[in-house]
Amino acid sequence: MHLSQAATRIAKQIKMSDKAETNLWGGRFKGETDPGFAEFNRSFGFDRRLFEVDIRGSIAHCDGLRSAGVLTSGEAEQITSALNTILKRGQSEPQYFDEIQTEDVHSFVEARLVEMIGDLGRTLHTGRSRNDQVATDLRLWLRDKIDGIGSALRGTQETLLDIAEANSDVVIPGYTHLQRAQPILFAHWCLAYFEMLARDRERVIDARKRVNVLPLGSAALAGTSYPIDRESVARALGFDSVSRNSLDAVSDRDFCIEFASAASLIMMHLSRLAEDIILYSSSEFGFFELSDAIATGSSLMPQKKNPDAMELVRGKAGRVYGHLHSLLTMMKGLPLAYNKDMQEDKEALFDTVDTVNASLSITAIVLRNISLNDARAHEAATRGYLNATELADYLVRKRVPFRQAHETVGRMVRHAIERGCELNHLTQDEFKSFSPFFDADVFKTLSLEATLATKSQKGGTAAERVAEAMADARKNLQRT
Ligand code: ARG
Repeated sequence: MHLSQAATRIAKQIKMSDKAETNLWGGRFKGETDPGFAEFNRSFGFDRRLFEVDIRGSIAHCDGLRSAGVLTSGEAEQITSALNTILKRGQSEPQYFDEIQTEDVHSFVEARLVEMIGDLGRTLHTGRSRNDQVATDLRLWLRDKIDGIGSALRGTQETLLDIAEANSDVVIPGYTHLQRAQPILFAHWCLAYFEMLARDRERVIDARKRVNVLPLGSAALAGTSYPIDRESVARALGFDSVSRNSLDAVSDRDFCIEFASAASLIMMHLSRLAEDIILYSSSEFGFFELSDAIATGSSLMPQKKNPDAMELVRGKAGRVYGHLHSLLTMMKGLPLAYNKDMQEDKEALFDTVDTVNASLSITAIVLRNISLNDARAHEAATRGYLNATELADYLVRKRVPFRQAHETVGRMVRHAIERGCELNHLTQDEFKSFSPFFDADVFKTLSLEATLATKSQKGGTAAERVAEAMADARKNLQRT
């Protein structure tokens, strides 16, 4: 039969059968649902993303009903095999979802089940409510996505480490207040972002523990009245434990909010990285050049090469923060237990996951497409008195109190600015005129190499420390 014919036939069947196929409540209602309200109430347009996990949860629930003696083995087998067929069709026929109109993914699967096996399909919802069902679906869905985001974070960390190792001797200026401060290794800059993403990865792995708890068996709010072995349902679905309170289990969305909060931190870190890359690839800085593959031009100005990819990541951070706020606000006034407001959790959660995944992967691509202008970065790191602190430290080694040393060097910087030169271009006499403690060896301490080398405590930018940090980072990636 032609596909569209099949679609019309199914649509007719659904129309012919009673309302319970598309509306999950029948008996109490005499009147028809207002079409505008039905549309407003509908979440199937977006919660169809839960289709696969909804079926996984239903198969486990079916087995729970069988163990509880509610369904015979034969019935459970028939339901399970029909659910598997529905799953396969959903995975291979995109139009399968649009052939019938249902409120949400749960009513869709049930309607398809009844269409295939009749009344037996209507028994699956025994001892279950959409309230514990949707909470279970969301947790299954988010658990998988968290695993994916964990690997994406790891991938971006690896890219940062790769470019750090490949450019281990490149020096760039470090900034505070966006004013040149002290020279640092480019690798040290890369590893700063590596650390942020390492914490992000820990955070999502930790949040996963609180996601991985089974709500199914809480039913609508008070718990199920059937002797379903919740522990074995939990095992079948890979949950670590079962929820301890049914009221909480059906109305808790902390796990979504906690994830959205971890996601906001990821986006905040990516946005800062994006901002650095945007600045460093501008002609004012000129340390990075973005390859053509990840830059865009201007429709008007022929000379432009714009860092859109990073600007989008920076912009999308706002969108994820927005989702966090939506979720917090949506939950704050809800009385126990389930309320329909909570249907609003899905689009926020889905878009958060999509945005974080896309941003992590595009950031890794951009990082691989940066070429460094070592000469330009080196020049910036050696101009602008980035070695002034070394000079103060030199005086401190001669037992001048730091405050006084700071004051002296400050005056020297002012003098050098007036002369239009760097500190290491002052003559020995000029040095002496500022402090009798300056000897000829002062010039050594002012070199870029010496400036970097003194930052040799753990966590500093000295070359050996950064080499160790890169080796540790490599080990860390191999372990986790
Ligand atoms: N689509 C609903 C949601 O996402 C499923 C739960 C509906 N429960 C109910 N009692 N109406 O929240």
